[in-house]
Amino acid sequence: MSSMTEYALARRPADWPQPEQLGFGQKLAPWVVSAEHRDGEGWSALHAMPLSEARSPMASGGLQYGLSVFEGLKAYRGPRGDAHLFRPREHAARLTSSARRLRMPHVPESLFIEACRLAARLHEDFLPPQGRGSLYLRPTLFADEEALGFRVAHTHRLALIVTPSSDPLPKTVNLWAESELARAAIGGTGAAKTGGNYAAGLLGLVRARERGCDDVAWLDAARTRLSEAGTMNLFVKIDDTWCTPPLDGTILPGITRDSLMTLMREQGVDVQERGLDLRELATLEREGRLGAAFGCGTAARIVRIASIRSESSTVSFPDDPQVAVLRDRLKRCQEGTESGFSTWACAI
Ligand code: PLP
Ligand code: COI
Repeated sequence: MSSMTEYALARRPADWPQPEQLGFGQKLAPWVVSAEHRDGEGWSALHAMPLSEARSPMASGGLQYGLSVFEGLKAYRGPRGDAHLFRPREHAARLTSSARRLRMPHVPESLFIEACRLAARLHEDFLPPQGRGSLYLRPTLFADEEALGFRVAHTHRLALIVTPSSDPLPKTVNLWAESELARAAIGGTGAAKTGGNYAAGLLGLVRARERGCDDVAWLDAARTRLSEAGTMNLFVKIDDTWCTPPLDGTILPGITRDSLMTLMREQGVDVQERGLDLRELATLEREGRLGAAFGCGTAARIVRIASIRSESSTVSFPDDPQVAVLRDRLKRCQEGTESGFSTWACAI
């Protein structure tokens, strides 16, 4: 493993924006942490290279066939100002499962976590003060062998990009239920965090915006049940129960989704994995049984959903103070200011 001492700690330039002006994904940090995998040899040691020198070959499976999987996790400052990663083991496990689906090499948990720690340490100067933002880490695994044939590649690279980000602001969105396009189907790659799923969804996002909505409500392949809210998992309150679609292989198993289910259950809040049929939600709304809805993910944390529109109907979700309470509690857990769940943080 590479030691930190080999690399210069990156320093924020004098004109670096205030944390609130960073947004998400706009500013990239100067180092990329990388390791290479070669069949028969396994993984190289980790090393860091300047972002400006990080390259991907044109004739690679990563670029040509989408043989690329990634993760998105955050480093936060805790109550004493020290930096930690939030749930890196769970992100490592999901990368492994995405890689298995695309027939790419296994990334050992220790390599994944060391790569994240090195990237966070190199850029600690870019990590906003506690409560004001994070370092969003984007470990990416892709086939980088120069060969055009469609087959399993012999060489792959793990490369970790860092983007210092603002603390996401509370937001409310209106979604468009997409009835023509599908993001994923049973047997496909919906549960893998791979670029192809995002590519398949982009036209849906554009169509939702053309219809005056903020994002897409993805339906299952039969176009009846809700699956995801844009690039977020989805929760809807029915009576006193928070419901989220079950992980049937078409839905990304979100770490935020899992964290929220744990937090809700720990507080005695009823939470259930169950199918959410859009027509059933319209009936529940008429009966006065439909509560609030939100999407959740690492980048956005929790975003309230005000409505889901489709060609034939609009389902509206009332506001509920519980959404803001959950959002605050999740933020405290991510930042390590809430007692309990200490195993979710991993020091850098
Ligand atoms: N679903 C999709 C399609 C996503 O891109 C994301 C974002 O990562 C999520 C769900 C939420 O996953 P997580 O909470 O692990 O960030
Ligand atoms: C995340 O929430 O971490 C995501 O991956 C969202 C990203 C597609 C912008």
